[in-house]
Amino acid sequence: MCGITGYVGGRPAVETALNNLKRLEYRGYDSAGVAYPNCNGISVVRAAGKIANLERALTGTPHAAHAAIAHTRWATHGRPNEANAHPHRDCSGQIAVVHNGIIENYAELRKELLAAGHQFTSETDTEVLAHLIEANLPPAIPATEAARSVVSGVEEEIFANAVRAALRLVTGSYAIAVLSQASPDTIFVSRKDSPLIIGLGEGENFLASDIPAVMRYTRCVVLLEDGDFAILTPDHVRVTDLDGAPVTRETLEVTWDDAAAEKNGYPHFMLKEIHEGPRTVRDTLRGRLGANNTVVLPNLPFTAADWQRFRRISIVGCGTAYHAGVVGKRLFEQVLRRPVEVTVASEFRYSDPLVGEDTLVILVSQSGETADTLAAMREAKAKGATTLAIFNVVGSSLARDADAALLTQAGPEIGVASTKAYLAQLTAFALLCLFLAQLQADLPDAETPPSGASEIGQTATILTAFADALRELPTLIEECLRREPQIAALAETLANHSSFFYLGRGYDFAAALEAALKLKEISYLHAEAYPAGEMKHGPLALVEPGVAIIGFCTQPATNEKMFSNLKEVKAREGTVITVLRDGDPVPDGSDAVITVPATLDAFMPIV
Ligand code: M6R
Repeated sequence: MCGITGYVGGRPAVETALNNLKRLEYRGYDSAGVAYPNCNGISVVRAAGKIANLERALTGTPHAAHAAIAHTRWATHGRPNEANAHPHRDCSGQIAVVHNGIIENYAELRKELLAAGHQFTSETDTEVLAHLIEANLPPAIPATEAARSVVSGVEEEIFANAVRAALRLVTGSYAIAVLSQASPDTIFVSRKDSPLIIGLGEGENFLASDIPAVMRYTRCVVLLEDGDFAILTPDHVRVTDLDGAPVTRETLEVTWDDAAAEKNGYPHFMLKEIHEGPRTVRDTLRGRLGANNTVVLPNLPFTAADWQRFRRISIVGCGTAYHAGVVGKRLFEQVLRRPVEVTVASEFRYSDPLVGEDTLVILVSQSGETADTLAAMREAKAKGATTLAIFNVVGSSLARDADAALLTQAGPEIGVASTKAYLAQLTAFALLCLFLAQLQADLPDAETPPSGASEIGQTATILTAFADALRELPTLIEECLRREPQIAALAETLANHSSFFYLGRGYDFAAALEAALKLKEISYLHAEAYPAGEMKHGPLALVEPGVAIIGFCTQPATNEKMFSNLKEVKAREGTVITVLRDGDPVPDGSDAVITVPATLDAFMPIV
């Protein structure tokens, strides 16, 4: 997730684009850059770190341009340094591109472009776009100054065609803005699966990833849709599809206040990020579920022989990341039939852990900088284990130092309470599990083929069933989010309860751990998760009127048991909320019910 802005009009373009970019820093802040036309080509100024560093880099640089595009980055390909910061240019230096999204086929495009003589200066997927546009220009472009003044409209259309042609070759997601020295007062934009809006002004126009970025200048916006391509000049905005056919988009008048706008209309970042769940899961899956339902994880160097060597798997993390690991453990043991331990990092590092050369230690961390998790990694490495990081921040210590790394695609998580990062971690565990199942199936003796998923059936169908279910998850999460008003109303009725137990079995218990943590952190109310079958071994004594019990009952194999556990707490006059899959029978004694769409048992914690 990155932020892009652009401006074309009579104001100082660089300052205006940067002012707007600052409103998007929540989308990424590992580097920033800006491009603007000058008389010889396109100037690009970039800096590692926050936008303030870019502003310092611009000090003393004359930039009297009337068009500019800018970018604040959250790295997905390549380290977070200046060379990988956007904008990226083509070989001639006359085209500059900013991009938010992921170009899935960038490796093969880059290979073809290198073979055709293009020279790359970064490790990013974005740079292929600049070269691909260059490759699609007819030889007469870029034009000379003289030619430009005569045929500027023609230049514009020629360049637009080159951008459209390039985009037709791309798979993946993008919101892009492109500057060409041949049309210096024009910005070319397009989007697919990444947000992009146009802000309309008088004699000026704006572009941005999100509406808040342009609100200080205009409240009149056009929301581009997937496949839209637009040409922005000071005086007009022309929208077409990728074949150049005109498209009509309505103009929207924004009425939110500024504070709400920063959070996209949500009252706080946590709620905004909860609503980014479907996008997060989609992005984490993007480009990784290949043809025939194979899982493609190019950055994981493991072979079938490595997998044979890993007799033990250990998962380590803190807080939410640990809870994701609890789900991961169940999934791995169910599918791969290999023993998995999951340990909180602060315990692992001091426990003289039983790991060695036959162990794969998976370290999970959103930030990649949690001290206990980093120390656990060092401990595992010192003992000869192979380490694999599941992480969300490119360039973080964990990502850099682990033997292998699997990036989640949650984008920056501003809310202190982790929400979308948890979903991304669970999705990453699912992908990793399928990847390892593929390796396992490749073993010559196939000693322990993927199995054990009784709900799915035989080995031959397991990858397909999991892959199909993964693809469907974002839609199911969207459906869940549509039920928010009903859940919010229920929360009101529970707000005065003194204590909360989240109960579940199997995957439901794993999900309960995370649910209880969220309530503690956000509501300052006592909450704890318990394996439902353990309540009768002591904690039942705490249940009385005013205590709420949230029973997760999404696992058909154990639901009967769950129902009888819930009867026990009801007998002590607790308030019972049952969480069920759509269509499942409501157990006696429920005071309220939340239903969620059904998927494989293993993925119910994600829903
Ligand atoms: O950045 P990390 O994933 O390593 O952070 C670990 C925990 O501090 C974190 O998951 C924390 O528990 C959550 N923010 C709680 O919502």
